[in-house]
Amino acid sequence: MDTHNILIVDDESDFRTLLVEALESMGYLCEGAETAEAALELVDRKHFAIIFTDLNMPGGMSGLDLMKRVKERDEKTLCILMTGYASLETALQAMKLGAYDYIQKPFKLAELEASLVRTLNYYKALRDNERYQAELEARVQERTREVVKLKDDIENLFEGFVHASVFAIEARDPSTKGHSKRVAKLTVALAEAVNATEGGAYGPVRFTLDQLKELEYASLLHDFGKVGVREQVLTKARKLEPERLERILQRLHQRDLEGVAARILEAWRRGEPFEEGAFDVLMASRKEETRRLMDLILRCNEPKVLPQEVKEAMGDLEDLAFTHFQSGRARILEPEDIAALRIPKGSLSEDERREINSHVTKTWQFLQQIPWTGPLADLPEIAYTHHERLNGMGYPRGLKAPQIPVQAKLMAICDVYDALVAADRPYKAAVTIPKSLEILEAETQAGLLDADALRIFLDGGVYLLTKDELKPEAEYR
Ligand SMILES: [Fe+2]
Ligand SMILES: [Fe+2]
Repeated sequence: MDTHNILIVDDESDFRTLLVEALESMGYLCEGAETAEAALELVDRKHFAIIFTDLNMPGGMSGLDLMKRVKERDEKTLCILMTGYASLETALQAMKLGAYDYIQKPFKLAELEASLVRTLNYYKALRDNERYQAELEARVQERTREVVKLKDDIENLFEGFVHASVFAIEARDPSTKGHSKRVAKLTVALAEAVNATEGGAYGPVRFTLDQLKELEYASLLHDFGKVGVREQVLTKARKLEPERLERILQRLHQRDLEGVAARILEAWRRGEPFEEGAFDVLMASRKEETRRLMDLILRCNEPKVLPQEVKEAMGDLEDLAFTHFQSGRARILEPEDIAALRIPKGSLSEDERREINSHVTKTWQFLQQIPWTGPLADLPEIAYTHHERLNGMGYPRGLKAPQIPVQAKLMAICDVYDALVAADRPYKAAVTIPKSLEILEAETQAGLLDADALRIFLDGGVYLLTKDELKPEAEYR
């Protein structure tokens, strides 16, 4: 049983009734309308799959007008035109207006039914196609939702991985806690300030949202290679490690006592009487000498530029000896102790400096393990170049300005700035913000850092963004 509604529109009452009854007897749901206006009223109330309409209906709209109006109201309805005044022209016009079929009066019932079946089949095919399209669209939407969720999951996973990596760096060297995050915050803000810059060297530079994300991750991971640097080098505050310094001071103290004992023994051998006053004088002078030597070692041990007078006095340290309980006379300061104390600036020997610097290559090697694609493809190169300097004096590759990615030039400024203002590095006290900015200016004048980028860093107030995260010592004084 077919449940599609069919409408017959014809002004000839007998003819219309005959058709309605004939189609109903065939099992169709069928109604009739005498005029086009009456037909439209019905169309407004319910959907008809097929409308058979007469071409000419006196006193009102024609069948062609009706078809046009029906299409405007319900485009799913298919129309079949019936007329006794057939001409090729009318037929063409009917088809143009969207009639699906055309029957010429007078017709046999079988012709009407044949047209109806053909049109209904087409109607059903259209509905099937619509359903298929709708299902397809629903499936595509579902798949799209799944892909978007998968992408979000991957991004969240990656974000978590980046932050876990930062946690690992900081666990290794708590003194640089917060450095990676502050550098990321400053560098992204500097890149955004570049985006807002009109004119000048950075006028044409515009970073996309993807590039800003890439820069943020590169900044967060830039020092990851520090996990591969030995901890005692990473956190070394002074030239001699604390145990080594204590051993030297203990040996000096022992030398002090050995000297006094030797003098007393010598006097005793010569048969001289023990005089308490002379002993006190002897003790005081030995102690004075020991204190001078200890003070000299402590001054050498500081990670500052070695003062000239300290440098000159260091010869006094080389031949100091004490009695080792196993090997007899031995040097108080071993050659490597002397070499460490002679470091002209900072706390690291050349080898240790090289080891620290190797963090950049280690960062690169680590990042190379990850198959970066699409918008993050340049991340390893950006992180790899954060210690390169415009004049080629950076490391590890000694690249010059044109070879350094612009993102790395921005990161370099933020990295140096944060290293200066951060309060708690073991080998240095915090530098005030104004002093740090002066140092950055000096580095641009020396051809190390990018002057145009520094101008934006200063004029845009980018450097103030991390002010509240620094320890109070780093604030303006
Ligand atoms: Fe670094
Ligand atoms: Fe850094």
